[in-house]
Amino acid sequence: MKLEQEELKTELDLEKIKEKLGEKRYLHSLSVLNSALNLAHRFNLNLEKVKKAALLHDIAKNKEKDELLTIIKNSNWILDDLELSIIPVLHAPAGAVIAQKEFNIDDDEILEAIRYHTLGHPKMGNLAKIIYAADFIAEDRSFAGLDEIRSKIEKNFEFGLYLITSHIIKYQLNQNNFIHPYSNDLRNKLLKRSD
Ligand SMILES: [Fe+2]
Ligand SMILES: [Fe+2]
Repeated sequence: MKLEQEELKTELDLEKIKEKLGEKRYLHSLSVLNSALNLAHRFNLNLEKVKKAALLHDIAKNKEKDELLTIIKNSNWILDDLELSIIPVLHAPAGAVIAQKEFNIDDDEILEAIRYHTLGHPKMGNLAKIIYAADFIAEDRSFAGLDEIRSKIEKNFEFGLYLITSHIIKYQLNQNNFIHPYSNDLRNKLLKRSD
């Protein structure tokens, strides 16, 4: 991975993030940071915001179900019963709470990007889209079809995003998992646009 010193310059306390994530997840977050910075130029995004969202997106990932649910219950985020029942996605809203409380993030776009990085959301903004996509195409991932998605997203970001959402939904269908309406609505919206 080619992260320059400049790209790692941030107001965030990297040691504190590393401590919370552990080595492997910290490296994953750096991969997501790298992908996110590569995508960010499309939208003229504030790079410090991209860095904060990327580095903190999985900040709650090491927490157990009960703690995640307690964090969410004591926050202002509203989750429906279906989302609350899908345990692997809960680190996203819980992560937004931790980013705010423990890393003093008050920027709504950063918090939204962390909160929706698992399910996606039809109304998510450009920063959230970048983090959602960067998490999926990050260098530390490899599976059949990923290289094709990486090259598609280079050429047409919205179409690449559509492919990512479709891939995630197909995977969940194969696993007999629930499909949350946020993911389905996001895919429908992207499909309408990519005709
Ligand atoms: Fe995550
Ligand atoms: Fe992630």
